[in-house]
Amino acid sequence: MADAQQLVVSVRGLTKSYGATAVLKGVDFSVARGEVHALLGGNGAGKSTLIRVLTGSASKGDGEIVFRDPAGAVHSEAEGRRKVAVVHQELALLPHLTVAENIALPHF
Ligand SMILES: Nc1ncnc2c1ncn2[C@@H]1O[C@H](COP(=O)(O)OP(=O)(O)O)[C@@H](O)[C@H]1O
Ligand SMILES: [Mg+2]
Repeated sequence: MADAQQLVVSVRGLTKSYGATAVLKGVDFSVARGEVHALLGGNGAGKSTLIRVLTGSASKGDGEIVFRDPAGAVHSEAEGRRKVAVVHQELALLPHLTVAENIALPHF
C-alpha cells in the first residue's frame, strides 16, 4: 500500500448506473505518484464508464473521488479532473501528431 501522501487519486465506493443497469458497483482503487496501472475487463465491464466518471464526462453515482497533488494537497474534483488526460480508443487518435500532442489535444 502506497504512502497516503503519495496518492494522486483515490476512489472509494464509486457507483454508476445507466437506468436499471448497475455498471460500477462500489469501485475502490488508488493511484500513487509514479505508478502505472492497467485496467482490465471484458467488453462492457465498465472500463470506459470508470474513466468517464473519473474525468467528469459522465456523472457519478455514490462514492468519493479524491485528487491530490504529489505534495499531498487535496483538490476539488473539478480541479483534479483538469489534471487527468485521456487518450480515447484508437479511432480518436491523430496519427500525424506525436504521442504527447495526442495527449494534450483536448487542451488546444
Ligand atoms: N451512455 C450509456 N448509456 C447506457 N448504457 C451505457 C452507456 N455507456 C455504457 N453503458 C453500458 O455500461 C456498461 C459498461 O460499458 P463500458 O464502460 O463502455 O464498458 P467497457 O469500456 O469496459 O467495454 C455496458 O453494459 C454498456 O452497455
Ligand atoms: Mg471501453
